[in-house]
Amino acid sequence: MTQPDQRPTVTITVDGAALRAREGEMLTTALARHGLLRLRRSPNAGTPRGAFCHMGVCQECALHVDGAIRQACLTPVSAGMAVERRGVL
Ligand code: FES
Repeated sequence: MTQPDQRPTVTITVDGAALRAREGEMLTTALARHGLLRLRRSPNAGTPRGAFCHMGVCQECALHVDGAIRQACLTPVSAGMAVERRGVL
């Protein structure tokens, strides 16, 4: 039987907008729950890219977290983190 998620809900910002997420969940999970599947654009073709492997191998989930490039699938959510999906919008 699955236990309900007991982790506290925190607020992060994504492209300047407030978003609620569970503390400690992977950033890709939090973004996907809110329908944010496009995380960046390909530097060559300009096509939208999103999480693929979810285990730190493909680099498709790279985005900016508090000003540094991070892999969203390996980055746990913490209160107040600022996420930027540069070039996606
Ligand atoms: S989804 Fe592949 S490295 Fe994050």
